[in-house]
Amino acid sequence: MKVRVSAPGKLMIFGEHAVVYQRPCIVTAVSSRIHVTVEVKKEGFTINAPQVKDIRFVEETIRTFKQNYPFNLGLSIKTESEFSSLFGFGSSSAVTVALLYGLSKINKIHLTQEEIFRLGYEINLRVQGVGSGFDIAAATFGKTLYFFTGGKIIRPLKIKKLPLVVGYSGIKADTPKIVRLLKEKIDENKEEYEKIFDQIKKIVEEGKDALEKQDWEKTGFLMNKNHQLLQKLGVSIDKLDQMCQAALNAGAYGAKLSGAGGGDCMIALVNESNQEKVEQAIKLVGGEIIKVEVNALGVSEDKSL
Ligand code: MEV
Repeated sequence: MKVRVSAPGKLMIFGEHAVVYQRPCIVTAVSSRIHVTVEVKKEGFTINAPQVKDIRFVEETIRTFKQNYPFNLGLSIKTESEFSSLFGFGSSSAVTVALLYGLSKINKIHLTQEEIFRLGYEINLRVQGVGSGFDIAAATFGKTLYFFTGGKIIRPLKIKKLPLVVGYSGIKADTPKIVRLLKEKIDENKEEYEKIFDQIKKIVEEGKDALEKQDWEKTGFLMNKNHQLLQKLGVSIDKLDQMCQAALNAGAYGAKLSGAGGGDCMIALVNESNQEKVEQAIKLVGGEIIKVEVNALGVSEDKSL
């Protein structure tokens, strides 16, 4: 028996970092996916996961699943990715979620999306130690989500379209390290950072309405404000700032880094008439354009087998 399943990567639209500290964020699932094939074999395990940057996510997923739903099958597990783990699209979370789903299918166990999210978040915390779980939620539920720390709220937004340009900085960010460094700074000056997080929270709340109303002027304005607050947190870098500024100069409604900062990607909100100009401008300052659709499907079975 064999199943092939897949889960999407993600992009943070609003609220990164603040979401680690009991605030909401908005995340969208992207059309680039990680596929996992799980096949029953006589005995033992073989794992072929060349794109997975930390194999502990695979090992811990198998261990946790077995602990909750004991089974005795031998398994061969293979992963294939439609995006580089360098982009910060949440490849580890997508692999974790897809593998949980694949294991449940092979063992004929019905897991709800909530159960997949809970198990995935548990695995994520065990391997990584830090994180809000928003990336696990995006991989599980897909779409564009209003998400509160730890999944206390996970609510899909009514989004029809979201015209984003995505630029990769060429620099790989170490998310857990950035989150830990920021925590050290927060511990020294809690009040100051709480104020910033409250401002980000307000942006997320306003951003939710602006996105649902397709009010791009307002959404762009809020993206710029969010980026400025991320600069204040000290997580942006020159390259991301330059890419955002280039996008704005070329007519984007707004631009911000997306994710932990320190590298990875930025996003710019555009319309049909300025999209190409914005892409060119980002490339001119050394960014790489990553073509993805947003608001994508969550974890699902690939029907092509
Ligand atoms: C990283 O992509 C986003 C952070 O908010 C971390 C997290 O929420 O787990 C910085």
